Amino acid sequence: MKGYKKKLILTFIIMSYIVSAAGCDFIVKEKPVNVKSDYIAVQTPDSAPESEEEEDTSSSVESENSTDTAHENESSTGNDTSSKSDDKSDSSSSSSKAASSGSTSSKAASSSTTSSKTNQGSAYNTSSKTTSSSAETKVTKISLDVYEVELDVGKTKMPIVTMTPYNASNKGEIWKSSDEKIATVNENGVITAVSEGKCVVTVTAAGNSAVNAKVNVTVKGGNKVESIDLSFTETSITVGQTVMPRVTMLPLDADTLEEEWKSDNESVATVDKYGNITGISTGTCKVTVTSVSNPKVSKEVKVTVKELNSSGHEVTQGTSGETYFDGTLVVNKTYGMDSSYNPGGLTSECAAAFENLRRAAALDGITIYIQSGFRSYEDQERLYDQYVISRGKEAADMFSARAGHSEHQTGLTIDCNDASDSFVGTPEAEWLAEHASEYGFIIRYPKGKEDITGYKYEPWHIRYVGKDLAQELDSSGLTLEEYFGITSEYAD
Ligand code: DAL
Ligand code: ZN
Repeated sequence: MKGYKKKLILTFIIMSYIVSAAGCDFIVKEKPVNVKSDYIAVQTPDSAPESEEEEDTSSSVESENSTDTAHENESSTGNDTSSKSDDKSDSSSSSSKAASSGSTSSKAASSSTTSSKTNQGSAYNTSSKTTSSSAETKVTKISLDVYEVELDVGKTKMPIVTMTPYNASNKGEIWKSSDEKIATVNENGVITAVSEGKCVVTVTAAGNSAVNAKVNVTVKGGNKVESIDLSFTETSITVGQTVMPRVTMLPLDADTLEEEWKSDNESVATVDKYGNITGISTGTCKVTVTSVSNPKVSKEVKVTVKELNSSGHEVTQGTSGETYFDGTLVVNKTYGMDSSYNPGGLTSECAAAFENLRRAAALDGITIYIQSGFRSYEDQERLYDQYVISRGKEAADMFSARAGHSEHQTGLTIDCNDASDSFVGTPEAEWLAEHASEYGFIIRYPKGKEDITGYKYEPWHIRYVGKDLAQELDSSGLTLEEYFGITSEYAD
């Protein structure tokens, strides 16, 4: 009986154990339901790309608050939705959570990944809906892999940006440099060192202007350009001509030898980025080359632009519409001047030269005097109009200039003694023809050149052009028109 009782007790104990074990089993079966939700959260990091995890690693501490918040929301809403759409951004904090969750998590983590993915997949769909309803999720923090950047001039750096939370609706970046002379930054966050100094580059969340991160940028001067040598610093070019000075930036091993070219008057001469200077119109201007890495260093080229006519003579225009050929003012039927051109009398140079001529003639027993010297536009207009009335326009045009076309308006011309045909062949006319050029004057309208000058022979009309040109014209027998290769014809 004792033995039977013993057996009975033993059997009871065994049965109790079996029942208890069965109960445990039952509970264990139910547990995964609870575990699953944790499990999904824990498994999420496994589905995140490794690169994303790496990206977040540096900012894991900074992003912990916000990612934790995301998890709190997750728990409080009773679903695991947020962890689905933000599975990537939460990866690092989820990982640390999982790690600190102890054995349950570890157990879960060691469970089948496939199942968790399946579960995750179904949860994912649910979560998408939830996410879309919270489409206004804003960036709360921007983290960078670097906050201090030191660059040599010309070098670049692109900080890695992590925006939190990952599921923020607008993770666009807006980049700005506090001083583009020191460093520029493009829309992708590529910082380029320009010149020595310090500045701050800021990236702001496009979706939340209150959130930004700053990078302190220090640009090292390194080997700066200290001086610029040009093969020439003055040039005289013609319209359409291009010249390029040879540039030497010193020291030759400077970090960047980049040049910046600028013209202070592009209507006179332009300059391209290589330093090609091109003449546009007559005038002068300054072209400057500056070192990009050291803008304090620059060099100037004084540019004079000339226009040459087909005979190779330089043509320049005065401010009153007058025209100069190789610097000599020319007035004839083709080239006129505005009424505003008014020296008010003979120029001092012309007057002095005439006085010398007069004295020299007197020494030779010849009397030369001024019959008509300077005439204003109005004077000439009156005179010409009278001749048109008395002799007709065609005849007048052969001996009287239209207003704006008379050399008498220049203050460089004198009619000597008697401005009429009676003067032809007189000793005074012959003396002038022989000696005028010695004093810088020419007989402007010589005999036989009527078709060229546009006027009949006027031995009394002398024009001051300076000794050199006067003697060259006298010895060559050329008129001003022939010498400069120009015409003397009215346009109408
Ligand atoms: N007699 C000259 C052409 C003049 O009128 O200027
Ligand atoms: Zn005259």
